[in-house]
Amino acid sequence: MSFTEKQEALVKESWEILKQNIPENSLRFFGTILEIAPAAKDLFSFLKDSDEIPQNNPKLKAHAVKVFKMTCESAIQLREKGEVVVADTTLKYLGSVHLKKGVIDPHFEVVKEALLRTVKEALGEKWSEEVGGAWGEAYDQLAAAIKAEMKEEA
Ligand code: HEM
Repeated sequence: MSFTEKQEALVKESWEILKQNIPENSLRFFGTILEIAPAAKDLFSFLKDSDEIPQNNPKLKAHAVKVFKMTCESAIQLREKGEVVVADTTLKYLGSVHLKKGVIDPHFEVVKEALLRTVKEALGEKWSEEVGGAWGEAYDQLAAAIKAEMKEEA
């Protein structure tokens, strides 16, 4: 199935809403990750030594923003080019960071669920199945590129 202009617009519009409150949306995102997969806590340098999710932690916000923003960029590429294109150096970097940190395939499903729930909560009434579907598809394609690179490097 190809990615439509409408889907691209839905993702871009919701990213505009998400980015208005990065501190809250990042906490929501990580809160959901840990709710689904408590053991994932130990993967993250900024979580492993604390009992609570740190408020206003720059690394935590950076990871959340990367996931939100790169998924949004993937939506744009899917519509324009029909595929996700991550710059070679970026993809190599993403592959090696995640491999080194011990991230495995099922973690990508956890992060997907957390992303979709975060978008849903941030959008409130503006959310729809169609918005969720567009984010989900863009994320899946991005995650596939990262996972392929991880396998390449392993
Ligand atoms: C680090 C992006 C999925 C766990 C990073 C970094 C980027 C990134 C850019 C480098 C550090 C930074 O800039 O914050 C992404 C993207 C993802 C994704 C775009 C999905 C599309 C995941 C998943 C996990 C994960 C599924 C596992 C639950 C980590 C960890 C680090 C990291 C543990 C090191 C952070 C630290 O301890 O400081 N990720 N990531 N990431 N990522 Fe991901």
